[in-house]
Amino acid sequence: MANIEEEWLAFAKQLAVSAGEMMVEARDASAFVRDYKMDHELVTSTDIAVDQFICSRIEARYPSHRILSEESSPTMSLSSIADDVPVWVIDPIDGTVNFAHGHHHVAVSIGVYVAQRRVLGVVHAPFLNECFWALSGAGAYCNDQPLSVSGENTLRNAVVATGFPYQKTALVPIIERVSRILHHCQDIRRNGSAALDLCWVAAGRLDAYFESVKPWDMAAGTLIAEEAGARVGHYLPRGTLWPEVVNGDGLLVSTPDLFDDVMALMNAPA
Ligand code: IPD
Ligand code: CA
Ligand code: CA
Repeated sequence: MANIEEEWLAFAKQLAVSAGEMMVEARDASAFVRDYKMDHELVTSTDIAVDQFICSRIEARYPSHRILSEESSPTMSLSSIADDVPVWVIDPIDGTVNFAHGHHHVAVSIGVYVAQRRVLGVVHAPFLNECFWALSGAGAYCNDQPLSVSGENTLRNAVVATGFPYQKTALVPIIERVSRILHHCQDIRRNGSAALDLCWVAAGRLDAYFESVKPWDMAAGTLIAEEAGARVGHYLPRGTLWPEVVNGDGLLVSTPDLFDDVMALMNAPA
């Protein structure tokens, strides 16, 4: 099995690098247009082009595999993730708002799952020239340098990242949690890419990250953080039909020593 998983990983990295080149070219040439999905969620023509590129390559190379991708199959039933057919979970551009505004914190995220098991994750940030990846049981890496979490154990010294949904009606409890954490940590970051937030916890640049996200936001980065020694859990009950392994509702990822303290603040009474 390891050999086939290594083959998938090599392929995922190639796809991610090519997708990154598409993003950089599109932005350098300002060759993209903006559109809006539900809740005024920004999507660009480059999101769609990268999604089609990645999905078509996977379909051609592994026709029996399944794909869950944000832009072309966001409602695919993931009960299928429970059987042993590999599922590729794709976010073609994580950080679309950053992409469209000329920021550098942008990534393509590719995760592979088999039978509810996180097999591999690749998160490539083309404007930062950083490719994060992990293979289950083999550690996490950035540009082939091994990663490990910061080891921070004191919340007052911790830098904590989070994010906000497009849906403005969901903001009140989120702002409450941000306020609680901000009163107890060193500082907060909102970098604009959940996939990279998870990788930055893996790299020890962030000490904790919390947010409610979709499977494609966290599919690859969660394994990268786990393989770097992070603890992964949820501060909200599962509110969606997604299987637990790709459930991003109330996702909390941190150094092992900070986890309980952050969790306690997430659940503290308002
Ligand atoms: C978004 C980013 C952002 C997070 C949002 C996501 P997108 O993904 O990951 O950091 O706060 O919840 O929707 O829309 O850029 O793919
Ligand atoms: Ca995303
Ligand atoms: Ca996206």
